[in-house]
Amino acid sequence: MTSSPEQEPQFHGIEVQKFADPRETAYAVASKIESLIRKRRDAGVGCVLGLATGSTPIPVYAELVRRHREDGLSFANVTTFNLDEYHPMDEANRHSYHAFMRRHLFDHVDIERSNTHLPSGSVSRQEVQEHCSEYESLIKESGGIDMQLLGIGRTGHIGFNEPGSTPESRTRLVELVEITRNDAADSFGGIDKVPKYAITMGISTILDAKEIVLMGIGQGKRDIIRRTLVSGPPSSDVPATFLRGHSATSFYLDKAAV
Ligand code: F6R
Repeated sequence: MTSSPEQEPQFHGIEVQKFADPRETAYAVASKIESLIRKRRDAGVGCVLGLATGSTPIPVYAELVRRHREDGLSFANVTTFNLDEYHPMDEANRHSYHAFMRRHLFDHVDIERSNTHLPSGSVSRQEVQEHCSEYESLIKESGGIDMQLLGIGRTGHIGFNEPGSTPESRTRLVELVEITRNDAADSFGGIDKVPKYAITMGISTILDAKEIVLMGIGQGKRDIIRRTLVSGPPSSDVPATFLRGHSATSFYLDKAAV
């Protein structure tokens, strides 16, 4: 399968690639990840990926698993850092992002489990701050994130950096807004069961990545993507607008999301 994106003009320095449907979008993102993994392996170095959860990247992970099984794509040189985890949340809970990553990627490829990292949802409130600093240190010690994959929330959040988040923010405990908890309510079986807090990489942590790929799929994301790309100056009202200040950010969008 070949994907031929329509190249859109740059929006505030953000390159936009538009694809016919969600499948082609996911295929193109998987290809980008595969070529980075192979390029770094050929150079004899590790590849550090920043990963996202949510419905948007699921087909990307499925395609990477397929390439591992059928095309010999190896994850032996890959280290991962996920954006976020609910708090409080046990790793074993099926709603945890730890479980999500095992289900969709880690259980199906040859990644070294000790090279996979997510913020912990089970540290106590007293330990959260120290845990967040340790997470930041681990990212730095790994050499920094080569490519960060992002989805976008209807509030304009990236990671769980809800409106009000500043471009200086680092990994920390945040309160989730109602729209975000509502969007998760179905999978949790009701909004009352959705945690009120999460630990997320900050905007500044995300902007430290060498390259950033944001995926947007479906009509439900169209308004927020428009606002991110074209409206006003970067602002905490739409945290994703801070991506405009990053020198290597591209948006991979399907037609419905543009
Ligand atoms: C997930 C994350 C969130 C999601 C966003 C979109 O790790 O950090 O920012 O990317 O909420 O979620 P979906 O893809 O379910 O629409």
